[in-house]
Amino acid sequence: METKMIKKRIAAIAAGLLACHCLSAVAADARQVEVMHWWTSGGEAKSLSVLKDELKQKGYSWKDSPIAGGGGEAARTVLRARIASNNPPDAMQMLGFSVQDYAEQSLLNPLDSVAAKGGWDKLVPAPIQRFSKADGHWYAVPIDVHSTNWIWANKKIFDELKLTPPQTFDELVADADKIRKAGYIPLAHGGQAWQEATIFDSAVMSAGGPKFYTDAMVNLDTRAIGSKTMEKAFEQMRKLRGMVDPNFSGRDWNLATSMVITGKAAMQIMGDWAKGEFTNAGKKPGVDYLCMRYPGTQGDFIFVTDQFATFKAGTDRQPGENAFAEAVMDKGVQARFNQVKGAIPARLDVPSDGFDECGVKSMNDMRAALKNGTMVGSFAHGQAMPESSKTAMYDVVTHFFNSNQSSADAVKALVTAVENSK
Ligand code: GAL
Repeated sequence: METKMIKKRIAAIAAGLLACHCLSAVAADARQVEVMHWWTSGGEAKSLSVLKDELKQKGYSWKDSPIAGGGGEAARTVLRARIASNNPPDAMQMLGFSVQDYAEQSLLNPLDSVAAKGGWDKLVPAPIQRFSKADGHWYAVPIDVHSTNWIWANKKIFDELKLTPPQTFDELVADADKIRKAGYIPLAHGGQAWQEATIFDSAVMSAGGPKFYTDAMVNLDTRAIGSKTMEKAFEQMRKLRGMVDPNFSGRDWNLATSMVITGKAAMQIMGDWAKGEFTNAGKKPGVDYLCMRYPGTQGDFIFVTDQFATFKAGTDRQPGENAFAEAVMDKGVQARFNQVKGAIPARLDVPSDGFDECGVKSMNDMRAALKNGTMVGSFAHGQAMPESSKTAMYDVVTHFFNSNQSSADAVKALVTAVENSK
């Protein structure tokens, strides 16, 4: 009996020692910031090194937790599991409504003091702040602004076939015909729901313009969603489907980009993270490739802003998390990061020097859209509508793209799906 007691006591002391050891490990860990993200393509990974270096300069090391999968679906699933086991990362890449959702659950570290010190309120455009804040408080820090209504084209193919950037959707269809006849794939596409949704962003804008896009995709107005204009957007999708190669299913977005880089395909419709791949491959705009707005969306700006939220994790971790947030918003970081990533800075005071012609165009487009009040969030990347409606729309769009459904039936299905999701 007594020996049993002694054994128990020894076990307790050992556990105590272990806990002690643990604590010191935690203390050491406080100089490290775990960052979860889905930036695993060549261009994406390269841009992150800018942020890693800045964090290092602030005296913190970077614990990398990459979860592959463009658009971030897989990463968000892993995050939910980590939260469920009470072990969230220090910082997580987030899009759109996720920040508000997690802030409402009181899981995020408020960044108000860092934001006040850095003057973020004045530096960040209002449509971007909308996704950084919940209840008037800063909970996320934006690192970039992408836009989705772009076409990336192989210049050699365009020159060979004497093509110029198509100004209307019909011109795009005619160009695609010529490209196919010349033996190239007109459109490089990766058959994943988020990529089809990304194309749909442009199709909806092209069919109806910013007011229609806002009514349908942001305000979820049933009349707009069920309209003839929406039918036109689906008709564009049907024609785009005819431009892809037979092996598109499941292809990652960056592999589709590389088809354009290597001259197998002529074009890709994708957010400007695609430009990060061209840059990473040593390609130059105007020389090797062309960036053009999707026909019918010139001057329009469908934005995606990548932000980082930090999780509440006790006072020992907070300084690291705050240092990370400061690093993200650093003026030099925003310039260097975005020059590699293909995006533009989320703060308005970064000069355009050092950005290529596509970056400068994007900056000008964003400023014009801001002025006109037409800067609209991407449906595909969760910046237009809450998650439940986004998922419902994804299903309809991707089903349509991968079947022979008529545009009229797709519109009806879209109305029902959105109504049920509200
Ligand atoms: C988006 C993200 C972009 C880009 C893309 C592909 O969701 O906003 O920054 O990385 O996914 O991974």
